[in-house]
Amino acid sequence: MKFTVAIDGPAAAGKGTIAKALAAHFGFDYLDTGLLYRATARKAMDGLDPVAAAKALTAHDFQRDGLRTAKVGQAASKIAALPKVRAALVAFQHDFARREGGAVLDGRDIGTVICPEAEVKLFVTASDEARAERRWKELAERTPDLTLDEVLADLRARDTRDSERKTAPMAQAADAVLLDTTALGIDEALAAAVALVEARM
Ligand code: C5P
Repeated sequence: MKFTVAIDGPAAAGKGTIAKALAAHFGFDYLDTGLLYRATARKAMDGLDPVAAAKALTAHDFQRDGLRTAKVGQAASKIAALPKVRAALVAFQHDFARREGGAVLDGRDIGTVICPEAEVKLFVTASDEARAERRWKELAERTPDLTLDEVLADLRARDTRDSERKTAPMAQAADAVLLDTTALGIDEALAAAVALVEARM
C-alpha cells in the first residue's frame, strides 16, 4: 500500500511531534526532511559546495552533533533557497513518500512540490509567540543564556526567508487541512490528524 501524509508548516509549530506520533500510530515510515537541509548546511559550513554536499549526503551526515542548533537552522534556510540544492534532494524524498507501507514526511514543500499526490496534507501552524516559547523551552537546558526574544527573532527570520524564496516556498497546499496548535495542544492536534488519515485510508 502506498499512502503519503504530507505535513508542512513553520518552525516549531509541532510538525515533527505530530508526524512522528502519526507514523508510530499507523506503522508508517517517517522522514524529517528538514534534516536533509540541515545536514547539507552543516557540510557547507565545513567548506563544501552546497549542491555537491546535497548530492553526496550519506547516513553518517545525519548523525552529526549540532544539526538541531539555531545556527545550523539559519544556514539550512539559506542553502534551502538554492534551486539546485532543492533539486538534488527531490528524488530521495519522493521515493520515500511513495514507498510501500505508508510514509509521513514533514517539511515546508511536501504537499506542494515533493508529493502533491499525497493522500493526506496538513499545514501545522501556531502563533509566533507559542512557537518561540516551545522552542525556547527545548533549548533552555543546553543554552541557558538564550532569551525568548532571541528565539522569536530567529524563528521569524527563518520563516520569512522560507516563505519568500522563489523556489518551493513554504506554503499551505490548496487541499491541505490547517491545524493551528496555538490553543489546540499537541494531543488534540494529533487526534485530529489521526481522524483525517483514518477517513482517507
Ligand atoms: O524543519 P527544520 O526547521 O529542521 O528545517 C530547517 C530548514 O530547512 C528550514 O528553515 C527550511 O529552510 C529548510 N527546509 C525546506 N524544505 C523542507 C524542509 C526544510 O526548505 N521540506
